[in-house]
Amino acid sequence: CGIVGYIGERDTKNILLDGLRKLEYRGYDSAGIAVMNVDGVHVFKEKGRIAALDDHVDHKVAATMGIGHTRWATHGEPTHYNAHPHQSVSERFTLVHNGVIENYEKLKREYLVDAQLQSDTDTEVVVQLIETFVQKGSAVEEAFRHTLSLLHGSYAIALIDNQDSNTIYVGKNKSPLLVGLGNGFNVIASDAMAMIKETDQFVELMDEEIVIVRRDSYVIKNLEGNIQVRAPYTAELDASDIEKGTYPHYMLKEVDEQPAVMRKIIMEYQNEDGDIKLDSSIREAISESDRLYIIACGTSYHAGLVGKQMLEKIAEVPTEVHIASEFSYNMPLLSKNPLFIFISQSGETADSRSVLVHIKKLGHRSLTLTNVGGSTLSREADHTLLLHAGPEIAVASTKAYTAQIAVLSLLAVDTAKAKGITLGFDPIQELSLAAQAMEVLVDQKDIMENIARDYLAVTRNCFFIGRGVDYYVCLEAALKLKEISYIQAEGFAGGELKHGTIALIEEGTPVIAIATQAHVNGSIRSNLKEVASRGAHTCIISMDGLNDASDQIVLPEVHEYLTPLVSVVPMQLLAYYAALHRGCDVDKPRNLAKSVTVE
Ligand code: G6P
Repeated sequence: CGIVGYIGERDTKNILLDGLRKLEYRGYDSAGIAVMNVDGVHVFKEKGRIAALDDHVDHKVAATMGIGHTRWATHGEPTHYNAHPHQSVSERFTLVHNGVIENYEKLKREYLVDAQLQSDTDTEVVVQLIETFVQKGSAVEEAFRHTLSLLHGSYAIALIDNQDSNTIYVGKNKSPLLVGLGNGFNVIASDAMAMIKETDQFVELMDEEIVIVRRDSYVIKNLEGNIQVRAPYTAELDASDIEKGTYPHYMLKEVDEQPAVMRKIIMEYQNEDGDIKLDSSIREAISESDRLYIIACGTSYHAGLVGKQMLEKIAEVPTEVHIASEFSYNMPLLSKNPLFIFISQSGETADSRSVLVHIKKLGHRSLTLTNVGGSTLSREADHTLLLHAGPEIAVASTKAYTAQIAVLSLLAVDTAKAKGITLGFDPIQELSLAAQAMEVLVDQKDIMENIARDYLAVTRNCFFIGRGVDYYVCLEAALKLKEISYIQAEGFAGGELKHGTIALIEEGTPVIAIATQAHVNGSIRSNLKEVASRGAHTCIISMDGLNDASDQIVLPEVHEYLTPLVSVVPMQLLAYYAALHRGCDVDKPRNLAKSVTVE
């Protein structure tokens, strides 16, 4: 979910709606705003996208303060009455919330037995608790702090009181929240992107802090009521980066941006002598560790698998890769001096953050690779490496994945150099060749569109097979296809399909193979023949030099460690065109959110 707020002199409705559109990547099941003027608080909410909310809002209501919310349902279905904002029974208080309150049933039993709650959400309990404490005599700020101190779980909250048109109360724990500062106005947002049109000055909040936000001031306090002083920072975001320009979808724009992102990474991580420039403290942290543990979710996890390969093969550092949501509950036996590497586009994923909190308690060191400087995972880890991919808006991740692999390759090379390992190739040169190869591929959209039409327009399922690093790319290819086209897709290690899953192959089942590695070229081709002889509709994407004349897509040759950077591009485009042919919403697939800030 995402939240926004504005308090100032201008009419607030469009500022809130614009902000929410920028936050739709965090969820888009339902949305709402509450604005307040001399007539009181006006709440508008609607199931579905921000566009539906915009149609529903009474644009005649003028107001200079308000709060808004876009939802990814956790407790309660995505219906109108479960949409935020929620109001207390007397309607004095109105609140929006991002996160999950784990003990809401208990709080309901303990404090609210007689209250007539209107929704199934954990959030309504929070607003009702505040009202209950105020009715018992507490001042609003005190009731707000007291309520927050009772909550277990995650929250970013904004609250307005219909008896005070000059204050928005905000509070946070685990879920991200920023206060933006302007001249004669202040804003709040889950992500600076939502309010970058209004201001680039933001103040971060720490866990278990509240802020009393007024038109011309902001005061941060901890839950005990002690004032905390913190200076603002300048958010380096270009408002034009978050527009789609002439592209029909953000995803297509972001696929096309990948060669430029590779060049930006080279620029950011190269010194005047053309060598890789990484913070020396990161180098030290790696050299002092005896094993790396990569923790990530979704696409970032798939980049982590490729990273493991490079860190082990180039830098000879033992590396494990773990899914964040599994790690906490099923922790492997750790080595003596582990270093944790968190990979996260957003830097906000709750599953990953919960591992970070846990390993910090155990006294272990950490490095975050993220696209968002100042994000929670970046702030809380000991070290950060930025991806420099620019804002990624489409829910299905593309350029962040390739940026993660590129940065991991530099990390592997830098580690190898520090250990005195001779490389035998120029990493910067190889990365720029990969950027060129990506450029060739993004210009072959017509080929990918034809393959998508032939193989994927009507199928129910699809398999991707590869060996070694190609297998890791198959996992990502399958995820892309599932996410945006809803085709049931699986990535398999080429040799494994015959141990069970081959039973699913029927006449016409698409099986797409990736062949970029010389040492397994023969065997993956044999695997493809095995399925073809059982009726599969086969397609092969191979590396120049390893190809047969009949291969459907031939990738320009790149260094063997960097092949995922190029082999994934046709996969992203196949998924894109498959989704288009099937009439799916490419940028905002059903049930998903780009940044999942609940565990
Ligand atoms: C969500 C997104 C995925 C993403 C994953 C991890 O599930 O839908 O596309 O890969 O979160 O996100 P992160 O920001 O941590 O990379």
